[in-house]
Amino acid sequence: MPQGQDPLSLPKVDYQEILRDVARSMVRLKRPERLLKLITRFIDRTFGLSHTALLILDQKNDRYVFVNSRGAKRLPVGLVKFDSDHPLIQWFCGARKKLSFQKDFLFLSDVKKMLSRAEFRLATNSKGSHLTGIQKAMQNLNIELVIPGYFKETPVGLLMLGGRRNGRHFSKQEVVFFQTLANDCSMAIKTAEYNQSLIAQNRELEKRLKEIETMRHKEQRTYYEIMRSLAEEVHAKEPNIYGHISEVERLGLMTAREMGMELTGPGKDVLSAALILHDVGKIGIPDSILTKPGPLADDEWKIMKTHVEKGAKILEPLTDFKKVREIILAHHERYDGGGYPQGLRGDEIPIEARILSVVDSFHAIVSSRCYRGGRSMEEAFQELQNGAGAQFDPIAVDSFIRIMKKEMHKKGVGSMPFLLENGLS
Ligand SMILES: [Fe+2]
Repeated sequence: MPQGQDPLSLPKVDYQEILRDVARSMVRLKRPERLLKLITRFIDRTFGLSHTALLILDQKNDRYVFVNSRGAKRLPVGLVKFDSDHPLIQWFCGARKKLSFQKDFLFLSDVKKMLSRAEFRLATNSKGSHLTGIQKAMQNLNIELVIPGYFKETPVGLLMLGGRRNGRHFSKQEVVFFQTLANDCSMAIKTAEYNQSLIAQNRELEKRLKEIETMRHKEQRTYYEIMRSLAEEVHAKEPNIYGHISEVERLGLMTAREMGMELTGPGKDVLSAALILHDVGKIGIPDSILTKPGPLADDEWKIMKTHVEKGAKILEPLTDFKKVREIILAHHERYDGGGYPQGLRGDEIPIEARILSVVDSFHAIVSSRCYRGGRSMEEAFQELQNGAGAQFDPIAVDSFIRIMKKEMHKKGVGSMPFLLENGLS
């Protein structure tokens, strides 16, 4: 304490600066508890009160609880609880207006004055008992002044101040200052509550979105499995083309790897699904055409060619399969632009479709069909090479033949083991 200062005098308070500090803290602090503690500590130190306390609305339990208590007459936090029908709470919820009490704060001295008036002293009605309840509560808590902080007409907190240790009364300016602080506290509490509820809502939303996403993946997986079964069913109808789907998948992945394509994660899944489902549209082709034991007539070819568009259409519900649909739609395009359905050429055709075209044709060539016998691997290689640059992407053909020959050399056999297994050598 500076020399010569009256021990009972108080430091000069710059109210505006303090209120600006509080406003800044409200923005910075995510949790209001710290701000409320800072405010009560500040009041306790600056004004030298016997008791400074904050009572805050616990909306969930519809009651008000002590969250901070300082000074010589302080009470354990959490011990004091007022239900929302407590006379003191009711007073600030509107009861004071019925008694034509205009002030938006309450001194214990005002309560005593009102009770000393004959009409209340003699009253046995609710007005008298109401004020008696307030007087009792304030005296028990050693409180001289109660100032509410409002949010939309509801008292969110009560700033409760005991008497000054030096016996001085509160000035009008000080009461206005306390009122502003009490309202700032209420605003900080409501802002924090709002932020908390936003965070909780966001968490709930994220949880729901995850559940929906999981459900969607599950449904898509089920649909994919159904499509795979359909594709297998279609090929089962075509005579003597054993294991077409799994062989096309294996040969296609092998060729893609040989071409240096990155085959991990979604890239592999897309290529794999396209290789497996490429002819699923044949489910919409009449059996009379699909299983015809001999070359197709022109009008039958026309119908057969529609299987690429039918396949893309069937896969529309699989929203993650956009790229797969593009590959399937292009698997009968020719490198020279003479294919169907769009007449794409060269790099316009997805690389996966160019690979699919090579391995699909290879497997068809070496397979035995009713109307012609299956041909040897060397004949198949020759036919692919003849079509390189016309029907097929020459790089895809070279890569396919190279990897096949490497594998054959490694195994030391004249044909691929899987073809042997299927009796197709
Ligand atoms: Fe096809």
